[in-house]
Amino acid sequence: MNADIVIVGSGFFGLTIAERCANELGLNVVIIERRSHIGGNAYSETDLETGIEIHKYGAHLFHTSNQRVWEYVNRFTSFTNYQHKVYTNHKGVVYPMPINLGTINQFFSAAYTPNEARALIAEQAGELAGKDPENLNDKGISLIGRPLYEAFIKNYTGKQWQTDPKNLPASIISRLPVRYNYDNRYFSDTYEGLPTKGYTAWLEAMADNPKITIHTDTDFFDTTQPWNQEALVGKVPVVYTGPLDRYFNYSEGKLSWRTIDFETEHLEMGDFQGTSVMNYADAEVPYTRIIEPRHFHPERDYPSDKTVIMREFSRFAEAEDEPYYPINSNEDREALLRYREKAAQENGVLFGGRLGTYQYLDMHMAIGSALSAFDNKVRPHFENGAPIN
Ligand code: FDA
Repeated sequence: MNADIVIVGSGFFGLTIAERCANELGLNVVIIERRSHIGGNAYSETDLETGIEIHKYGAHLFHTSNQRVWEYVNRFTSFTNYQHKVYTNHKGVVYPMPINLGTINQFFSAAYTPNEARALIAEQAGELAGKDPENLNDKGISLIGRPLYEAFIKNYTGKQWQTDPKNLPASIISRLPVRYNYDNRYFSDTYEGLPTKGYTAWLEAMADNPKITIHTDTDFFDTTQPWNQEALVGKVPVVYTGPLDRYFNYSEGKLSWRTIDFETEHLEMGDFQGTSVMNYADAEVPYTRIIEPRHFHPERDYPSDKTVIMREFSRFAEAEDEPYYPINSNEDREALLRYREKAAQENGVLFGGRLGTYQYLDMHMAIGSALSAFDNKVRPHFENGAPIN
């Protein structure tokens, strides 16, 4: 097939550009995807033992306040009315998260009013008043006070980073939300829900156009297959959503990421934890949280005598690991600037998505930025010959 544009990566960024190019501009689009399935990290599949939908690359909850994105995504799927809530286990007691008046009153065995709780936390946060926090530990104490910080944040963050928060930069957190009411909805966006028929049905609907051809199991850097970097760049417009450093063969150094290991277990019971996400705040428990995906879809007819759970373990990513969360160290930021300069010089290639720009993007952000890139770069390129990057 003749390609008018080649898209590297079939996550939400790549699929949004592909869908717009095919449906709006009538272009022939080729998507190449290294994995054996489309959808990037939002991909989900049915667990064979239980029939429960599993988010293969970690729990994905859709939420947005962006009206344009919400209208756009509703062309491809409807959404359930799922509202995400998170709980945390600290010393064998379960508390609601993010920290709210319910958490505070349970933790201090009290019945504080909002103003009383506010005054208490302000007093406890004053412990390090007048000092510039030197590390994440001091920052946490200065934001919400030592008792709450040490119970709910310190060890959880330490497990996420595999590093004592005293050795982490204060800049990792800018704020720690505390709600002085009993609202424990995790997200406060206007729209929230899960795709009624699952993520993969949604992703497939976006690619459902005969003008879009997808080659899975195809790596852009594999010169033994025809859709590779050497063969394409400079000859056909390319949208690249793979890792930015890999594109330039790591010439400016490797950008660092955190990854997650998932330990999946099937259980002979209908309900393991009564909720979809349970964090484990203490250092003695090696995992950060347990996901029980059946609770993402209470409306579905899942079996009542078995369930599946995933324990999550967080660590620094090695070369072969899935890159999940950018670490953004000082060296990373310096290398990123050099890569950005190189990307700007790379004629005919538009870099996008979470890997292509080295930033954490929620799904609605990846879709929103792809819609903007289509309006500002891709459409002008095809309509007026403007550069695509
Ligand atoms: P994405 O990574 O999805 O797609 C990039 C694609 O490029 C991949 O399919 C990859 O295989 C492919 N690729 C890379 N190199 C290639 C090469 N050389 N050749 C060919 N193909 C190549 N968001 C949210 O809104 N709510 C949530 O709850 C969560 N939860 C969450 C949990 C975890 C653990 C993570 C890591 C992320 C989330 N997210 C999220 C974020 C969400 O996953 C993210 O917004 C989308 O994946 C972004 O889509 P992209 O297209 O940018 O990247």
